[in-house]
Amino acid sequence: MTVEATRPDNGIALLRINRPEARNALDDATRAALAKHCQEFADDESVRCVVLAGSDKVFAAGADIKAMADAGAAEMMLRAGEVFWTAMRSFPKPLIAAVNGWALGGGCELAMVADIIVAGESAKFGQPEIKVGIIPGAGGTQRLTRAVGKFKAMKILLTGDPVTAREAEAMGLVSEVVPDAETVERALALARTIAALPPIATRKIKELVLTGGDLPLGAALALERQAFQLMFDTEDQKEGMRAFIEKRPPAFKGR
Ligand code: CAA
Repeated sequence: MTVEATRPDNGIALLRINRPEARNALDDATRAALAKHCQEFADDESVRCVVLAGSDKVFAAGADIKAMADAGAAEMMLRAGEVFWTAMRSFPKPLIAAVNGWALGGGCELAMVADIIVAGESAKFGQPEIKVGIIPGAGGTQRLTRAVGKFKAMKILLTGDPVTAREAEAMGLVSEVVPDAETVERALALARTIAALPPIATRKIKELVLTGGDLPLGAALALERQAFQLMFDTEDQKEGMRAFIEKRPPAFKGR
């Protein structure tokens, strides 16, 4: 099994990529397992937030170079790698990447599909595809540029050289940097916080941030206003506001 799925706490699922002999390179089996688990978590009401991690030394070293070294263009098209990326991109619940070690190529792109990135202080992020004769194929030229801006992105993409966790944090590629030994625990702590909040609202925030980024501001603000109004049809809105007025902790049900 190249992906381990556990439920460390109520409302939280943890996925760990475990293919150390290939530095967690994302071969077909690993990608299929990640997509399958995410589909299960999307369908399971009891899961409110997911943490995605690799191992202590590597998050993921990208697509499996050995599995594509001799492939032709038509074969790459027929492999339809975008099905996996679409599944990850469409995951509707908050997804937190806990990155230790290398996040390279498709590994960096996988971290960027997450909504929050917690990095260990020794983590390194990069898009080294240029060094093996290709370009990023899963959002590297687009998501990275949107996250860090043209000039930082161009340097990373055109040189293929990695950046440190601190550099990634300074340019807005990482949400938080923590000591290496605390990366997964910190991501799980954030997941616990999010899992205790109203799930319809957390999903809507994710949807609005992602969808709104591709829209003109006026259209995005109109979407936000509609979603804001929709919250007033949820039991969790009534519970949250009553709990505040009654000075007690709220119990959100996802209704
Ligand atoms: N694909 C296939 N195998 C990989 C791999 C990858 N992406 N990364 C590492 N491996 C394999 C190595 O070939 C090696 O296998 P053998 O034992 O059979 O020789 C094993 O994992 C260990 O690798 P290293 O000896 O290189 O390990 P290291 O700890 O010294 O270095 C590393 C780790 C810095 C991650 C280095 O392995 C590396 O640079 N990997 C390649 C990174 C890369 O170029 N990624 C981009 C891939 S293309 C892509 O991702 C396209 C896309 O956008 C979707």
